[in-house]
Amino acid sequence: MRLIGIDVGTSSTKAIAIDGKGSILADASASYPIYQPKPGWFEQNPADWWSAVQHCLAELDAKSSDAIGITGQMHGSVFLDSRGEVIRPAMLWNDSRTVAECDEIETKVGSKRYAEITFNQPVPGLQLPKILWLRNHEPESFAKVSRILLPKDYIAFQLTGSMAADPHDASGTGCLDLVSKDWSAEILDKLNLNRKILPEIVESTQSVGSWRGVPLFLAGGDQGANGVGTGVVDSTSVGLALGSSGVTFGILDKPRYHDLETLNCFCNVPCGYHAMAVTQNCGTAIVAASEFYFDGMSASDLSNLAMTANEDSQILFAPLFSGERCPIRCPNPTHALSGHPEGDTSAELARAVFEGITFLLSDGFNQLLEICPKPSRISISGGGSASRFWVQMLADVFQLPISVLATTDGPAFGAALTAGVGIGTWDSFGGTANVIQVISTVQPIPNSLILAKYSRWRNWMDTAPFVKK
Ligand code: XUL
Repeated sequence: MRLIGIDVGTSSTKAIAIDGKGSILADASASYPIYQPKPGWFEQNPADWWSAVQHCLAELDAKSSDAIGITGQMHGSVFLDSRGEVIRPAMLWNDSRTVAECDEIETKVGSKRYAEITFNQPVPGLQLPKILWLRNHEPESFAKVSRILLPKDYIAFQLTGSMAADPHDASGTGCLDLVSKDWSAEILDKLNLNRKILPEIVESTQSVGSWRGVPLFLAGGDQGANGVGTGVVDSTSVGLALGSSGVTFGILDKPRYHDLETLNCFCNVPCGYHAMAVTQNCGTAIVAASEFYFDGMSASDLSNLAMTANEDSQILFAPLFSGERCPIRCPNPTHALSGHPEGDTSAELARAVFEGITFLLSDGFNQLLEICPKPSRISISGGGSASRFWVQMLADVFQLPISVLATTDGPAFGAALTAGVGIGTWDSFGGTANVIQVISTVQPIPNSLILAKYSRWRNWMDTAPFVKK
């Protein structure tokens, strides 16, 4: 048995091959650029994703596998013309240009009605406001649009010729009716959008077609696939994914909306629903802080530097380089320091970067706990989980044990497992949870020093002028 999982991520595509016991046989990756034509705009060329995926499939000899599951960055918009050609670069999940279009949605659909249908709020990252932005700002491109796909669904189209979306990733467009798991005719009508521009919805365990005879499955957006890949299947654990974005993820049996308007609620890949708190500033903020203050030092070097810092330092950092959607709404990209000596690039500043991201994640987690039961542990995944220093900091701030898993590629692993469920390797997702290996558990230090700093940071953020209250 050989199952392939592909994750079309923001900084790179990662792919793995696993066997029927979940052991990793091989992996491959290829990176690509992100373009920022204006502050707060984030774009990529779908052709770059496609080259990266072709490279990974060749490296893994994917044509001799039994099934492929594909996942990837959510919410992006790939605009296609009637020949299936890309019309303009894709706008990404962290693009914040669509503030006015979110207001347009609230006015035309009504905030309360929008929340009743989607269980989410219109925020700039979602796909729906991007569609309106294209109509408002590039009408000549909008006139050519025949279909709009999510990033990984564009790759699935390249591989199989079929245009589809799965319920999890479709939830992240902002126009799915979460209860019927179908596009909301009411939202589309009120916004005067033709339903035909959206693809058919296909469940993740149903193949959308095949590539060189190998069946392909749409395994959900990266966060849904990560839930499968980290074994977060019930409310005993919450997932924490440290990727480009930082996400805490908890299971729900029915959709729930929270008045804070910072959480997301989506269809879950196996069944039911999940809630999540997504901070846009995680890996992206490490890269941005490193470029701004540390001459582009790598994330692992920055973590090594931060480890040597004095824990008592007074420096506080607000890493909102991509704007933010949770735990606070901050539409404009910004970052701020307090207690920082001018020109200082010390270990204490590096530590403040990790602390600022950790505090954002923890505030998001605390909001999540208002609609999800408190778990007994956290399952961590993503590139950031390789930093033992950071995982300990997270355990101390969350005050919960953190399980470190054998694979840091949670989304790609989850996609491979979903493909396995699709072809019957496992009867159900319950069976896939047994193949997830915990390699260590990091315990929190009770009353850690960092908790006092967290309170100071929160008081400072509460008075920050850039946060939308
Ligand atoms: C999820 C989200 C990010 C992106 C990129 O809602 O915005 O996780 O999918 O990873």
